[in-house]
Amino acid sequence: MSYGIDTHGGHGTDLAQVEGDPFADPGLPHHTPRRTDIDARAANRAERQVAGLFGLSTILTIGFIVAFVSIDKEDTMYVVGLGTINSLNFALGVTLGGSLLCIGFGAIHWARKLMNAEEIVDYRHPMKSSPEDTADALELAKQGVADSALPRRKLIWTSLIGAMALFPLAPVIALRDLGPLPHKKLRGTLWDKPEHREIVHANDERRLKPSDFALGTMISAKPNDLESLEDLAKAAIVLIKINPQEIRSKELADRGYRGILAYSKICPHAGCPLGLYEDETHHMLCPCHQSTFDLADFGRVVFGPSARNLPTLAITVDDEGFLVAKGGFDEPVGPTFFERGDA
Ligand code: FES
Repeated sequence: MSYGIDTHGGHGTDLAQVEGDPFADPGLPHHTPRRTDIDARAANRAERQVAGLFGLSTILTIGFIVAFVSIDKEDTMYVVGLGTINSLNFALGVTLGGSLLCIGFGAIHWARKLMNAEEIVDYRHPMKSSPEDTADALELAKQGVADSALPRRKLIWTSLIGAMALFPLAPVIALRDLGPLPHKKLRGTLWDKPEHREIVHANDERRLKPSDFALGTMISAKPNDLESLEDLAKAAIVLIKINPQEIRSKELADRGYRGILAYSKICPHAGCPLGLYEDETHHMLCPCHQSTFDLADFGRVVFGPSARNLPTLAITVDDEGFLVAKGGFDEPVGPTFFERGDA
């Protein structure tokens, strides 16, 4: 049985007719109707199925509203595979999701079974304008130039060119506000200056002594006489006391004082302040992206996105027994800006 419905304006050539001529336009194959095109009962059944899905969507939406106003926010329920979950969240999710799914499935079923399914060809037309349209456009442009009086008003023409040529300079000059580049300024901190090497508590600014530390103690600190918040952002440190036997190298132990080690408080990944210290492992965790540093091993990165170890600050005690820095950090602090080549 053949259903050769020709909807192609004379292009519905049978494929068999063009065999032997590989360049001939084969047109579209004959249209094959769906069951719902030729069987009214199948079409009615499909219509009922689509209506059923839309109706189910309506019921689920009503269920959503009822759940929203009737279920207590604190109610919980047990769902196999999910455990104990909030009843309201579960009901809202199921009803709203189901409602959307039913609308989607109904629309797809409608399109596949009942909407017109005949193949059509939409030919691409030339994009170029006709010679008449091109001539009209040129004529209009010439008329516009004549109407603007530019050919006769040379002064306007010249001043307009000057204005248009200089205008881009304004945003270019505004770029200057992005500079100057920090270069070496970001490398140093207040600890580099001898007059700022006293280590004071970050909160009450009292000077710190080794006796302030028991094993496992961690204290946030800063240099004395901070000049600005920017200085604090670069010079903030954490001091921790580790059993000297557990410090992995003599070089690191020598940078500390009797097991007290000083590290930058600024995460080398993106600059978050560190403060989550686990004494058992000597690990310092960054709360932002979970970079983890081993403070018994030169602040080595043991986990996370930081590309660099935590900078250390060499410390000792002064004549009065207070902790002081010996100099600046062993590495630039903070994010790895300096690895980009220009600083
Ligand atoms: S800022 Fe510390 S891990 Fe990203």
